[in-house]
Amino acid sequence: MCGIVGYVGFRAAADILLDGLEQLEYRGYDSAGIAVKCEDEIKVYKAVGKLKNLREELKLHIKEFQNSTMGIGHTRWATHGAPTVLNAHPHTCNCGSLALIHNGIIENYKELKTQLEKEGCIFRSQTDTEVAAHFIAKKYAQTHDLTEAVRLASKEFEGAYALCVMHNDYKNTIVATKRNAPMVVGEGEGEYFIASDVPAIIKYTKKAMYLSDNQVATITPNSIKLINADGSDAVQKFELLPWEPVALSKMGYKHFMLKEIHEQPDVIRNNLTGKLKTASDPVVLDEVKLTKENLKDLNRIQIIACGTSLHAAMVGKYLIETFCGIAVDVEASSEYIYRKTVTDKHTLVIGVSQSGETADTLTAIKQAKAKGSHILIITNRPDSAMAREADSLVAVNAGIEVSVAATKSYTAQLMAFYLLAIYMAEVKGTTDTSILQSLKNELMLLPQKVEQVLANTDEIQKCARNYSGTKDFIYVARGINLPTALEGALKLKEISYINATGYAAGELKHGPIAMLDETMPVLSILMKGTVYDKLLSNSEEARARNARMIALTNSNDPKLEELFDCIIRVPDVQEFLSPIIAVIPLQLIAYYIAEFLGKDVDQPRNLAKSVTVE
Ligand code: AGP
Repeated sequence: MCGIVGYVGFRAAADILLDGLEQLEYRGYDSAGIAVKCEDEIKVYKAVGKLKNLREELKLHIKEFQNSTMGIGHTRWATHGAPTVLNAHPHTCNCGSLALIHNGIIENYKELKTQLEKEGCIFRSQTDTEVAAHFIAKKYAQTHDLTEAVRLASKEFEGAYALCVMHNDYKNTIVATKRNAPMVVGEGEGEYFIASDVPAIIKYTKKAMYLSDNQVATITPNSIKLINADGSDAVQKFELLPWEPVALSKMGYKHFMLKEIHEQPDVIRNNLTGKLKTASDPVVLDEVKLTKENLKDLNRIQIIACGTSLHAAMVGKYLIETFCGIAVDVEASSEYIYRKTVTDKHTLVIGVSQSGETADTLTAIKQAKAKGSHILIITNRPDSAMAREADSLVAVNAGIEVSVAATKSYTAQLMAFYLLAIYMAEVKGTTDTSILQSLKNELMLLPQKVEQVLANTDEIQKCARNYSGTKDFIYVARGINLPTALEGALKLKEISYINATGYAAGELKHGPIAMLDETMPVLSILMKGTVYDKLLSNSEEARARNARMIALTNSNDPKLEELFDCIIRVPDVQEFLSPIIAVIPLQLIAYYIAEFLGKDVDQPRNLAKSVTVE
């Protein structure tokens, strides 16, 4: 989604802003712009499309801003108004003396706009952001104090926002504030950096502070003043960020997605470290802050998430219900928040999110928290807004994920669910020790098995090439791998734009089978176990309709040779752990098809890495 960068210091501001925006590119955007303080005025430059267009625009004006050491920059993912230069940020007030960038949505912008229009403001864009620029300018005209203007204006804004503001009357000051949207301030020697996410600043400083909701920061090269919404001084909490700039490098891979797929064996190892020592030791999950008595009393769990995280949640449901005997509901956050949910202090609510910033999931967990439920968050970002809402925080240690298509964070979320399910089963005594021990044994062998899949991609690449011309793609599975089918389809559609759908194989005959003919690829996730035979007969039904059949399997069953045109084999693994082994080839198929079709793999069209609007 949108990205924010701000800089006050001694270096060339435009360079820092562009560099920071580049580090946030992965989040997805469709226009970009910067505002820099020049000799006696603020200059604004914008362009539609990728940052290279903004760079071209800036080249034409370099003399105007080359000495500027203060500015704000933004990448916009269109919500209110099309991706045009007029709608791109920064926005200014009518006289051009105040410039502002904004992430989020000012929900009461229509009322404020009507009021401002009556007072003579002329609007040039269709955005809610321009309303904020005029509104803060109005407060500035009353107070002649930029901090106070931002503080008073934001009290009247509804919705979620992170704002950075500069004014012509201030030679070297940026004022920033936020509510329900992330904002971090980095401190250097004689300089400060502001950003909506750490990658934009980590190259320059590790010393940083996350702003809390409604705080207002007034930043100059050598000072930061932080106040609360009521104007009182707020405590500044600078800390050293646990980030390395190297995490943002492709390390020789063509795309971040491929690099991240290959990082999965290490991600599994990282998630086991400290939590699972040997198969006979109980899982250690100190992150779960429910007492053993509370855990024993639990009789209901709700898991809420979106997209890939929702698929991880579905596997989690299967595991928890099987091993712990607790009823689990899984729901898309965007649905959860618009109905009357039955949640109370006896329900454990689990939020799953790679970014920890997804607006729908954040709202859902806040709603559940207000009803008294214990909130357990599974996230890759322990520094995120969701993490701050957590009563129990399970950080999944996947490292920064740059590609919009989630891969290693999915595996990491699955690991969190394996550990959580085993931990709860051990506390509650709901599953035979020998079953849990065999599961733990195999969990420890998983990294090598994933390595084997990654080392043998010839058949996967061949399959991707053969099917790259298709317009539709069906994935079928049953049981614990139904979410794997949904995830495989999601990966393919989001980066190749092929119409891919995952189905419970038993549902084929209730409708989807009508679509099958000799043009339709059907990929069966045939992992050995309880539903293998059933899925095999569903696959036969599809073959009988002449579909192009692909098997993803750990079986050596000779029947498969007759039934399938293409067979992708993976190492043997017990059924409970098969979702991890099975998803890797599906990630790779999606990757190779998209790459073969020449798509923008890491930044697919219309998508954003973290979806911070509802
Ligand atoms: C995954 O490939 C997608 N980009 C998307 O579905 C994502 O999983 C979803 O937006 C949820 O994001 P989160 O995990 O950061 O909450």
